[in-house]
Amino acid sequence: MNAHDSERIKGMLESLGLGEAPSQEEADVLVFNTCTVREKPDTKLAAYLGDAGARKRQDPELVVAVGGCYAEAQRERIFELYPQVDVAFGPGSIPHLGDWIGANGEAPRGRFGTHEHFAGDLPMHRERRYSAWVQVSMGCNSKCAYCIVPAVRGREQSRRPGEIVAEVTHLATDGVKEITLLGQNVNSWGRDLRPELDTEFGELLRACDGVEGIERIRFTSPHPKDFRDPVIAAVAECDAVCEQIHLPLQSGSSRILKAMRRTYDRGRYLALVDKLRAAIPGLALGTDIIVGFPGETEDDFAQTLEVVEEVRYDSAFTFIYSPRHGTEAAALPDQVPEDVKHARLERLVEVTQRIAAEKNAQRVGSMEEVLVEGRSRTDATLLRGRTRSNLTVNFAGDAAPGQLVAVLIEGSTSTTLRGAQRTAVAA
Ligand code: 5AD
Ligand code: SF4
Repeated sequence: MNAHDSERIKGMLESLGLGEAPSQEEADVLVFNTCTVREKPDTKLAAYLGDAGARKRQDPELVVAVGGCYAEAQRERIFELYPQVDVAFGPGSIPHLGDWIGANGEAPRGRFGTHEHFAGDLPMHRERRYSAWVQVSMGCNSKCAYCIVPAVRGREQSRRPGEIVAEVTHLATDGVKEITLLGQNVNSWGRDLRPELDTEFGELLRACDGVEGIERIRFTSPHPKDFRDPVIAAVAECDAVCEQIHLPLQSGSSRILKAMRRTYDRGRYLALVDKLRAAIPGLALGTDIIVGFPGETEDDFAQTLEVVEEVRYDSAFTFIYSPRHGTEAAALPDQVPEDVKHARLERLVEVTQRIAAEKNAQRVGSMEEVLVEGRSRTDATLLRGRTRSNLTVNFAGDAAPGQLVAVLIEGSTSTTLRGAQRTAVAA
C-alpha cells in the first residue's frame, strides 16, 4: 500500500510540473513516504532526515516533505522532532499535496487533513508498465493488538465497485496485464457499502475478471476471518485470478492469536487452508508471521513452527514483534527479550526457507506461464518474469516485456526459478 501511495505522490508531483531528480543531491524538493508498521523504518527515516537537515543548512530553499503513516502517527510532534521538515501529510491527504507544494516549490509549513480521500482518482506514476496496483479500500476496522494501521489509516472505507472497475478498464486499455487489488483487509471490501449496495469481495473479483485484457488478478492482504465461500468460489472459478493467496498467519498458537485479537484460532486457520486447497488446485500460499509477541513462550513459538511445517508455505514474510506506541500490545507485560526474539526469528526463517526451497524444487521440470517483466537483474543475457504463483523466473528467451510465455523450469532456489522459454503463449 505504501509503495502504491508513492506512485500517487510521484504522479501528483509530476502533474504539478515537478520531475524526478537524477539524484537526491540535485533535488529541490525531497519527499519521504514513510511506513511505521515496525520500528526499523522509523529509524531509517531518522537517518535520511539527518542528511536532509544537513543539506537544508547549506540550501535553505530545499523543501522537505514527510508523508505516510509515520507522519500521521507523529502529527503532534513531527516539526518539533525534525525542524528541517517543512510539510507533513498523512496517507489520506496525498490529494492535497498540490495545495502546499506549488509548482513554484513554495511550501507553507504545516500539515493537512488525514484519511479522507481515495487515491484512486489521482494522477499516478506506475513503476511497472504491465502490472498495476488498484486500491479497493482504505483503513481497517480490525483491532489487532500489535498493529498501528487502524490508528494511522482510520476506519475501513470501500471504494465503489463502478469506480474500481472503471480504473481497471482504463489500466487494461493502457496495456496493463496484471492487477493487484489492495486493501488493508482486502476481502472485507464492500461491507461498509451496505445496505445501499449489497456486494462482497467475490463479486468484485468476478467483475475485474470480466475486464478485457486483464490476464492476472491478485489481491493483498486478505484476513482469514473474512475468507468466505463466495470469495473462495470466485478465486477458483475466475480464469484471471491467480492460484496464489497471501494468508497472514501471524502466530500458530491459539493463545497468542487470541491475545493478538486475530479472531481465529489455529484450528480455524488450518481448516481454511484445507478448504482453499481443495477448491483451488495448485494453490501457492504465502504468509506473514510475527515472533516474540508479548507473552509468547517457547511452547507458543513451537506451535508456530508446527503450523508452518503443516501448511508448507511457498513464501513467508517473517517479523520480529516491534512495540508500536499507542497499540494495545505495547502496553502488555511480558515483553519478550530482544535476544529471544532474534533467536526465534532465525529458527523460523530457517524452516520457511527450507520449505520454500523444497517447494520450488518440485517445480523443476514443469512448464510455467510467465509474464515477462524485462531483463534479469543478475544476468543481462536472461529475461525476468513472474509465474502465476508469483515466483520470479530468470530465463533464456526472446519475448518482449508484457508478453505471456511458457517457460520450462530447469532450476530453483528458495526465492527464484530458472528456465528456458518454450513458446509464446499469448501476445
Ligand atoms: N511488529 C511486528 N510485525 C508487525 N506487523 C504489523 N505490525 C507489527 C508489529 N508491531 C506485520 C504483520 C503484518 C505485516 C504487514 O507486518 O505480520 O501482517
Ligand atoms: Fe493491522 Fe490487523 Fe488491520 Fe491487518 S487486519 S491492518 S494487522 S489491524
